[in-house]
Amino acid sequence: MSTTSDPAAPAMPHARPARAGARTLAVTSGKGGVGKTFVTANLAAALAARGQKVLVLDADLGLANLDVVLNLHPKLTLHDVFTEKATLEQAILPAPGGFSVLLAGSGMVEYSRLTPEVRDKLLHIVDLVKPRFDWVLLDTGAGISDVVLFAISLATDVLVVATPEPTSLTDAYATIKVLATQQDRRHVGLLVNQANRVGEGKLICSQLQQVLQRFVGPMPGQAFRLELYGEVKADQAVRQAVLKRQLMLEHYPGCDAAQAIKALASKLLG
Ligand SMILES: Nc1ncnc2c1ncn2[C@@H]1O[C@H](COP(=O)(O)OP(=O)(O)OP(=O)(O)O)[C@@H](O)[C@H]1O
Ligand SMILES: [Mg+2]
Repeated sequence: MSTTSDPAAPAMPHARPARAGARTLAVTSGKGGVGKTFVTANLAAALAARGQKVLVLDADLGLANLDVVLNLHPKLTLHDVFTEKATLEQAILPAPGGFSVLLAGSGMVEYSRLTPEVRDKLLHIVDLVKPRFDWVLLDTGAGISDVVLFAISLATDVLVVATPEPTSLTDAYATIKVLATQQDRRHVGLLVNQANRVGEGKLICSQLQQVLQRFVGPMPGQAFRLELYGEVKADQAVRQAVLKRQLMLEHYPGCDAAQAIKALASKLLG
């Protein structure tokens, strides 16, 4: 993997300190299509199965598709909350798997640029939902655009999803480096998805950690730590579930990928 390039990144606010209420976790990635939405939806179901009250916010404003994965046809979305045509209560919907969702739908394309309005509205919505849930998961877009980085900055914890492909790893490195340098994050979680063999996640995590330590540079106070949160093997059941627009955890609960997502939930619950 080529990890020597230095991504040009927009200046972003630092990650905000933790507040009372839900634990907020942004699920993000450098490269697109690596499994963020699949992981977020199924992790939400796994946390809900453990008695947690979970909200998934579709923070992939430009290319939202959580509704497609969950086979939901929302009449009211984040767009209606943004434009004050609906209240949060009306737009928060029950999803299969026992969690709640706030969907972006297709009306959000105009919000894919980070304007002061988008920034204020997203911040306000996250602040409003936090006291009502145990977990708020933000399914973000890929990359390091300002809107993606702003969505991540609203979460106290970050989970970067990457596949073992060199392009995905290079982009994951770039994203993590931006999170460390622009948001002052000292700890980022990594989920290696579509792993080819057991132990691949551990190897990738330690390789990335080494490169990050070398190129992120010394940080005042605390060393940077990339922590392996999980490894999900490439699994046909995932593709089947997505094709059928079903939650993998509900329809293929015994498959390897489902076990890995349950283990991820256990890890997050500590
Ligand atoms: N562990 C896995 N095994 C097999 N296929 C997988 C696995 N994880 C994801 N996929 C496949 O990858 C596809 C893309 O997944 P998903 O939509 O969750 O990616 P994403 O990162 O959210 O994409 P985007 O960047 O466009 O938002 C899925 O439709 C599924 O077919
Ligand atoms: Mg997605």
